[in-house]
Amino acid sequence: GFLQEVAGPLGERFFELGLASQIGVSIAAFVTLSVIVHVAKQLLFVNPNEPPMVFSWFPVIGSTITYGMDPPTFFRENQKKHGDCFTFILLGKKTTVYVGPNGNDFILNGKIKDVCAEEIYTVLTTPVFGKDVVYDCPNSKLMEQKKFMKIALTTEAFRSYVPIISDEVETYLKRTPDFKGQSGIVNICPKMAQITIFTASHSLQGKEIRDKFDEKLADLYHDLDMGFSPINFMLHWAPLPWNNRRDYAQRTVAQIYMDVIKSRRAKGDKGAQDMMAHLMNSTYKNGVQVPDHEIAHMMIALLMAGQHSSSSTSAWIMLRLASRPDIMEELYQEQVKAFGAHLPPLKYEDLAKLPLNQAIVKETLRLHAPIHSIMRAVKSPMPVPGTKYVIPTDHVLLAAPGVSASDEQYFPQPDLWEPHRWEPDHPLTPSHVRNATNEDEEEKIDYGYGLVSKGTASPYLPFGAGRHRCIGEHFANVQLQTITAIIVRNFKFRNVDGSDKVIGTDYASLFSRPLEPANIYWEKRN
Ligand code: HEM
Repeated sequence: GFLQEVAGPLGERFFELGLASQIGVSIAAFVTLSVIVHVAKQLLFVNPNEPPMVFSWFPVIGSTITYGMDPPTFFRENQKKHGDCFTFILLGKKTTVYVGPNGNDFILNGKIKDVCAEEIYTVLTTPVFGKDVVYDCPNSKLMEQKKFMKIALTTEAFRSYVPIISDEVETYLKRTPDFKGQSGIVNICPKMAQITIFTASHSLQGKEIRDKFDEKLADLYHDLDMGFSPINFMLHWAPLPWNNRRDYAQRTVAQIYMDVIKSRRAKGDKGAQDMMAHLMNSTYKNGVQVPDHEIAHMMIALLMAGQHSSSSTSAWIMLRLASRPDIMEELYQEQVKAFGAHLPPLKYEDLAKLPLNQAIVKETLRLHAPIHSIMRAVKSPMPVPGTKYVIPTDHVLLAAPGVSASDEQYFPQPDLWEPHRWEPDHPLTPSHVRNATNEDEEEKIDYGYGLVSKGTASPYLPFGAGRHRCIGEHFANVQLQTITAIIVRNFKFRNVDGSDKVIGTDYASLFSRPLEPANIYWEKRN
């Protein structure tokens, strides 16, 4: 009896183990076979009319992991091996990278019949922004929407923004518990994220919206943000907790904007200089006035586009200053020299009197551009000029302007963060700046939202080029320069260990940013 009782379950157990190991063997055989087929295909079927392939062991996964861990290093290493144009497998998709000024031009100035941004981005952006804007509409409509947004960013608007931004920063520094006392240590990234959202929402969207960020809007925007996780390129549709929160947040935030629009209409508000006021008075070429839900969705898009890029850049600026206290001191002296030791309130016109302050932003974007990969779907076979390659329609194109921005060919000692290199006669001045002719001579083109330079010759394009070029560049510069100038007035920074080291980059989300915690030591001036 006892033996039977033991032998019965044991027998079943043996059977289960046998089945499990059989399944295991089949999986191993399947993986081995697919690796062999994948490798053999790469070695035996080289298509001379397509760019060289980056070798990988596994189908589908391809180079996803090496790319994802550190895209700039991946690009540079493969550029060394294969030249400026090569293809790798990203989540099963053949992705053709083309770096350098020719590659930037080929992709970013590609014709509308050849390349398409919305096909790639819409799965992420539409659930976050909402319908009928940006990548959820024909490109011609996006061009009109960009025109409305760009026209709102006038000199007059910027004049009103600089005092708003300065005030927000001063108030933040006074009120935040992490900056109480004479000195301390702080993880600078979350602080810069808050400063960015307060300054951007107040200047671009007005005081009603800004005040709501002290209450529920901050959490709602956080939930919207989770919709931008790279995993959502595949799982954007799935009823997962973060997607449910994203959808709730989208509806709620859009409703908040629509309520503000309604109440402004009811009050007949005319004076506001902000983006919302401008969009409320904009009409498409076909005579249709921009509907309220589109205004609301554009407000979300604008804030999200600016938030990640500007907050990452401002955090890098602070980290770079902490690594070079001498430059931070120079920045302070620059303001004292320009405005006097009493440092009066900052005005828009003052920013032009602070060339080093401007160069800080420029040089930081050279090494830390937050957008490392710009993607386009290929709509018709694209011959690459000067080669025998034709990029087929089942490839995705990837531009990485950051590669030329850190290439020794254009920037002497490329890895050195040196804001003075943007002066015309510094030993490290890039040749395209040293030899620059009048800016008017640069080739310009209008895609429907005003003239923009084609950027074909420039190795430095942190704001992109072509029909999808950033319209927030000027705003971002005003915002970042103002934030930097005010922080320089209030603080001295250095690294906690006093070294000149700079923390590494986190590439895990769509926009790159500093790894955290990114602690710096601060000390108040005076
Ligand atoms: C597009 C960078 C700030 C709004 C872009 C693109 C880049 C870029 C590289 C091109 C994307 C592509 O071709 O697919 C940056 C950087 C910023 C910044 C580095 C700050 C340091 C802002 C701000 C706003 C903004 C503050 C809004 C006020 C936009 C918009 C587009 C865009 C509307 C157009 C997207 C399209 O046409 O497809 N930006 N941006 N950006 N950016 Fe920015």
